[in-house]
Amino acid sequence: MWDIMKKKYVIAIDGPGASGKSTTAKALARKLKYIYIDTGAMYRACALCSLENSINLKDIPKLITMLENIDIKILYSEKGNKIFLNGNDVSQRIREADITKLSSEIAKIDIVRKKMVLLQREIGKNGGVIMDGRDIGTVVFPNADFKFFMIANEKTRALRRWKEAAKKGENLSLKDIEKELIWRDANDTSRKISPLKQAEDAIPVDTSNMTIDDQVEFLFKIIMRGKSA
Ligand code: DC
Repeated sequence: MWDIMKKKYVIAIDGPGASGKSTTAKALARKLKYIYIDTGAMYRACALCSLENSINLKDIPKLITMLENIDIKILYSEKGNKIFLNGNDVSQRIREADITKLSSEIAKIDIVRKKMVLLQREIGKNGGVIMDGRDIGTVVFPNADFKFFMIANEKTRALRRWKEAAKKGENLSLKDIEKELIWRDANDTSRKISPLKQAEDAIPVDTSNMTIDDQVEFLFKIIMRGKSA
């Protein structure tokens, strides 16, 4: 165990929304004493920044200026990361429905991705990191020590999101959540640049019938076996 902690691996977890990535990544990071980076939160922060500054996503010069000045900081903590946009804690705001949709749109734009990938590589360069997203194993860290691709069926994913929302006191319909997930999967999978896809050497994990403990244990065992190459 100590050996794995010292090895400071880069662990990539990709997959669609509500496939279990972030819950698994967070728990695994705690176990391994690694840093957890939710790259989706970074695209969400960009989306919020564009909204707050009334930037049309087709206005590339304005987007370039926004990206030159944007300050995204992640405060790591075992209790959960906090994300700051230009000095403000936006951890809650970026989870709202308008930002969820806009983040999937802004993530299609080349200059936005280039900037986020630079930041992500900088954060992960010393290893000891678990990063989740859509393109971590394919683009951000193609040489990651471990790559996982998580999936789950639509009904299960929608139900997970519905339960999360209910816990926060939000009364959303399961049908609407499912529709939003299907729309976002299609949007993230079909974009030209760095689409959501499984890296050839990623290990697929279907979490539809797995508990959170099962998921964490599954990945943990593989990592503890170490690298074969
Ligand atoms: O993981 P999430 O649902 O918070 O991500 C929000 C959006 O950000 C997602 O719909 C697509 C985009 N995203 C991306 O394009 N690449 C990543 N590495 C992470 C997220």
